Amino acid sequence: MSTRIIKNSPYKPRAKKVIYYKRESPDSFTIRLDWQLKHEPGQFIFCSLPGIGEAPISICSYSDKYIELNIREVGNVTKALSGIKKGDKLLARGPYGKAYPMELFRGNNVIIIGGGCGVAPLKGVIEYLEKKRKDFKDVSLFFGFRTPDDVLFGKKIPDWKKKFDINISFDKVQKNMKTCYSGKQGFVTQLVDDNVKDNSNKIVFICGPPIMIDKTAELLLNKGFHEDQIYLSAERLMYCGMGKCGRCMIHGKYTCLDGAVFRYDELKDYKDD
Ligand SMILES: Cc1cc2nc3c(=O)[nH]c(=O)nc-3n(C[C@H](O)[C@H](O)[C@H](O)COP(=O)(O)OP(=O)(O)OC[C@H]3O[C@@H](n4cnc5c(N)ncnc54)[C@H](O)[C@@H]3O)c2cc1C
Ligand code: FES
Repeated sequence: MSTRIIKNSPYKPRAKKVIYYKRESPDSFTIRLDWQLKHEPGQFIFCSLPGIGEAPISICSYSDKYIELNIREVGNVTKALSGIKKGDKLLARGPYGKAYPMELFRGNNVIIIGGGCGVAPLKGVIEYLEKKRKDFKDVSLFFGFRTPDDVLFGKKIPDWKKKFDINISFDKVQKNMKTCYSGKQGFVTQLVDDNVKDNSNKIVFICGPPIMIDKTAELLLNKGFHEDQIYLSAERLMYCGMGKCGRCMIHGKYTCLDGAVFRYDELKDYKDD
């Protein structure tokens, strides 16, 4: 029996060098890979370590020189990846998924709402907007974190403040706690409620825990936003990332192919399935 070697298999990961590592919060870190990968905001890749496993991770940068990932340590793969150092290599394949259709939104106001680790994929969108600032009107960022220690991309915030309107909230702030970031106490939904008045020429991106996405979308719909003005991210277990295994299916839609970014009306009836 002859053995057929499949060259250039789309499943085959490639070794990529880590050129930057930063602990971002007590349970997450950011790495930069030496990988000139053509991609768009909203897409993701798969990262793996031999003998441990593979996990889908969103691209949190927008550059033709490198790829950045923010990874939260929750299980085998992500905990093993946290031990990686600058100069080490990991295995990666991608990009996968539909990107945000950014070209459609030119000339609009953009509202970006992120909760916790959901801020990471939105950083790719923010860096896109920084590069194409003149193509868009007002850009407002709303970030909600559990505590000031959980803030992601803290070093970038002063720079984003110069370019965009930025609002941060913390679920909990201990008494007399000194924080490097000015933020309101409460949920991010409160910030959105206080600051977003109407839906005129606005497009909204939401990423975060399911409950935060649901509450935020409901609030915006009550303020008169149309379903096609709201985009959200869906997270499902994934294996192949390319529509073959069916693991990520939501009522006939493959999260890996048709998402993970969806327009609200594409997913609203099935998001809890
Ligand atoms: C399209 C897409 C993009 C993603 N982007 C990112 C990203 O940018 N950064 C990132 O850190 N993760 C991201 N994830 C989630 C990430 O893929 C999973 O957390 C990962 O598979 C965990 O792998 P693991 O082997 O470390 O943990 P597992 O062993 O698979 O999980 C261990 C346990 O952790 C819990 N868990 C798993 N996932 C999560 C989660 N997301 N949040 C809270 N608890 C969880 C579950 O209880 C699970 O039983 C993304 C997922 C998808 C589908
Ligand atoms: S992950 Fe296999 S079909 Fe989506």
